[in-house]
Amino acid sequence: MKKKELTIPLEIYENAGELPPADALLLNLAMEATGNAYAPYSGFRVGASVRLANGKTLSGTNQENASFPAGICAERVVLSAASAIYPGIEVTDLAISFFYEGGNNAKPISPCGICRQTISEYELRSATPIRLILGGNSGEVFILSRAADLLPLAFTLAEMK
Ligand code: THU
Repeated sequence: MKKKELTIPLEIYENAGELPPADALLLNLAMEATGNAYAPYSGFRVGASVRLANGKTLSGTNQENASFPAGICAERVVLSAASAIYPGIEVTDLAISFFYEGGNNAKPISPCGICRQTISEYELRSATPIRLILGGNSGEVFILSRAADLLPLAFTLAEMK
């Protein structure tokens, strides 16, 4: 038996003002998008914005449903839209923000497990790392240089070969 430790590099910025301008812009788009969330059940409004290799940006929000499991997270909404509107164009950056009335919004959130799996597939299929920019409406911002870091030992197409 041998033991191995898996570590992930994480950049922590004190606030959005410290970010490179392109990252600050994308995070701001995600923050603004939270206003368009459809989250009548949880009240937890999530915005996700992508930048593509062609320079375009797109935003998505969580879309809840009376049948709760039919709801979909902002990350999967925006990635599906990007792939449908710009097929074959790599997603290079994904910013995620949120707003929860009465909650602590001054901290980053990171994608749920299903979204990690989905983001990881987009990253693999385009063979391009997707940078993640995670921040609330103020406070610290986390940057990961690739989505795979959030899903170590992922189940991928390679496992089915
Ligand atoms: N949600 C997202 O849209 N993205 C995340 O990363 C975490 C959770 C949504 C799902 C649900 O509509 C609400 O937030 C509360 O879980």
